[in-house]
Amino acid sequence: MRSLEGLAGALPKAELHVHLEGTLEPEMVFFLAKKHGVKLRFPTATALRQAYRFQDLQSFLDLYEEGAGVLREKEDFHHLALAYMDRIAREGVWHVEPFFDPQIHTARGVGIGDVVEGVLSGLREGEKKHGISWRLIPSFLRHLTEADAMRTFQELLPYRKHFAAVGLDSSEKGNPPGKFERVFAQVREAGLKVVAHAGEEGPATYIREAIEKLKAVRIDHGVRCVEDPDLVKELAQKQIPLTVCPLSNIKLCVFKKLSEHPLKELLHAGVNVTVNSDDPAFFGGLLETWLACLKELSLGETDLAQLAKNSFAGSFLSDEEKMKWIQKIDRLVGVSA
Ligand code: ADE
Ligand code: ZN
Repeated sequence: MRSLEGLAGALPKAELHVHLEGTLEPEMVFFLAKKHGVKLRFPTATALRQAYRFQDLQSFLDLYEEGAGVLREKEDFHHLALAYMDRIAREGVWHVEPFFDPQIHTARGVGIGDVVEGVLSGLREGEKKHGISWRLIPSFLRHLTEADAMRTFQELLPYRKHFAAVGLDSSEKGNPPGKFERVFAQVREAGLKVVAHAGEEGPATYIREAIEKLKAVRIDHGVRCVEDPDLVKELAQKQIPLTVCPLSNIKLCVFKKLSEHPLKELLHAGVNVTVNSDDPAFFGGLLETWLACLKELSLGETDLAQLAKNSFAGSFLSDEEKMKWIQKIDRLVGVSA
């Protein structure tokens, strides 16, 4: 008899919500700080890890940006992306759609080309080494201005063929999606899809706004949709994927306990919810997140298989590739075609 924990590990999974800067482990922060002569506020990697206690999204973002400040050269971005691919290869992950935040780096004088080319070469090496496919998503920081996002988009344009979509992240409260309506119109004109963090700390109305004003085809987090039952119905009916990050939500105090998280409720309401890590160096990796949900939300075999299928269905893979993975999952859990 196969255990549910064994099944969670064995099921092919896609990770659709992970920030590359959030995969930077404290040990690598210290290694890069030494390499570049950066002085850190913490004496050791252990002390840094112990500071990972957050009251809300902002308290996390402050430390996240500070840590990312040690990424300076193309090869740093290469190693960051490759280390993430090495990690997920052990967790049954076969497809990833990571975000990166260009503005964190360009504001410190790092060239956009070094960021993008470093990340691309790390992902390509990871793909060659492990057979993991990927689609890359640069994201705008929403606490910055529309003009900053516009400028960043101009810098990203020469690389657009390497991106599947453009996202929107960082401090949600007080920064509604509509603030970036014009820049995302340009994103779509350039042939790129739109995804947006919405309904993490911000209200359910931000989810509607991201769909209506930005034409987001996938919502990152989106968990506060539970406050608007009509929205839940609409998300289910339109099959707009939500890239949910349950452990992140607990660590950032969006919900008190994992047993109170709405993942299962949304899954059973027919919403295309997927399970993701968000920032694995801070909150735990993808498999750890799956195992915690399995235990605290009493997920069954059907739930696990549906979550795995949702992760591919909600991805930017072609319909043919999605079908290949979905059939593989069905075969693994013994569903006949
Ligand atoms: N950037 C990294 N993690 C994030 C999160 N959980 N919400 C918004 N922006 C982020
Ligand atoms: Zn996120």
